[in-house]
Amino acid sequence: MKVGIVGLGYWGPNLVRNFQADNEIEKVIGCDKEPERLNYIKLRFPNVELMDSFDNLLLSDVDAVAIATPVNTHYKFAKRVLEAGKHVWVEKPFTSNSAQARDLIELAGKKDLKVFVDHTFLYAGAVKKIKEIVESGELGDIIYFDSVRINLGLFQHDVNVIWDLVPHDLAIMNYVLKDKTPVAVTANGIANYYDQENIAHISIHFKSEDCFAHFHVNWTSPVKIRRMILVGTKKMLVYDDMENSEKIKVYDCGIEMLSSKEKIRKALVQYRIGDMYSPKVIQTEALALGVKEFVSAIKEGRQPLTNGHDGLEVVRILEASDKSIKNRGCLIELEEKEIIKPAVKTFEREDFIKKIRIMSNGL
Ligand SMILES: NC(=O)c1ccc[n+]([C@@H]2O[C@H](COP(=O)([O-])OP(=O)(O)OC[C@H]3O[C@@H](n4cnc5c(N)ncnc54)[C@H](O)[C@@H]3O)[C@@H](O)[C@H]2O)c1
Repeated sequence: MKVGIVGLGYWGPNLVRNFQADNEIEKVIGCDKEPERLNYIKLRFPNVELMDSFDNLLLSDVDAVAIATPVNTHYKFAKRVLEAGKHVWVEKPFTSNSAQARDLIELAGKKDLKVFVDHTFLYAGAVKKIKEIVESGELGDIIYFDSVRINLGLFQHDVNVIWDLVPHDLAIMNYVLKDKTPVAVTANGIANYYDQENIAHISIHFKSEDCFAHFHVNWTSPVKIRRMILVGTKKMLVYDDMENSEKIKVYDCGIEMLSSKEKIRKALVQYRIGDMYSPKVIQTEALALGVKEFVSAIKEGRQPLTNGHDGLEVVRILEASDKSIKNRGCLIELEEKEIIKPAVKTFEREDFIKKIRIMSNGL
């Protein structure tokens, strides 16, 4: 398979390295409008063919194109890739709004092409392990999901801190808590330096009212924290991505309400504090596994694990968060989860009608 990568700024070189290292990929073409970025890649990856024009990349023989340009360009580039009949990899967040996301999903369906959204963390060993633990029931029912992703971050000119950082955590939440449906969002934030928020707090309410999620993202923190806490009715889990080993810790602790005659007047709380263990986590680079999934999905003609629908679900929450911030933290309800069915390809429909005709003639 031959792959083109447009956008060779901060993140693009990681895509170049991982696509080039994959043994299913026979050719990588890098594309950027800045000669300085092309030179950077030329020095580090001498085998990569380079182009300064996206139009020429589309005219080349690549089967798929990965888009690592600023967020507000994702839609227009992805649409042109699909229109050119090529599969597309889009960096997170998928698009700048949900209408664009729906449009790309529909177009890919009509053309029978694959859309991969780079929710990188879903390919990380730690996140896979968390999903395994949650699905085994070891933690009990999840009642709280908390995420902190803060540091002295790179200010983005086209998006606020929410669109930059929280897509990772929302994608993890949607993946790990697959059976919980987010129904409403409240968010607060502040833009201290220019018109984009640099600090934000987002809360998510679910259909099942016994679960709640909270996210803190911040480009103006003196320390770097990448930590998640999942509280279950049986056990609790902490995921610290800054740890080299022991990224996940499972705590056998919890809270029980004691039943007593006095219960109505005075709640009796009993704390259970038991052992802690840290499960082994596979350390393979997440992006390398993302590339493998993209290639396999195309070869096997199936949806990738992180596809357009997952991208859309994240974008819907980002949109609602922006709306809530603009309305001083008011509750924004999410519409029912949408399933966009790919349009039936014309030839399939005609084939089907032909078959029906033949069958009815035979009767
Ligand atoms: N998956 C992850 O963990 C991860 C991490 C960082 C960034 N990202 C995403 O990657 C994307 C890029 O982020 P970045 O930080 O690398 O941005 P960046 O600004 O550093 O790089 C963008 C590059 O795109 C190029 N570009 C813009 N318009 C172009 C055009 N018309 N033709 C050719 N090249 C063009 C620019 O010259 C620049 O080199 C964003 O969507 C971001 O959210 C993902």
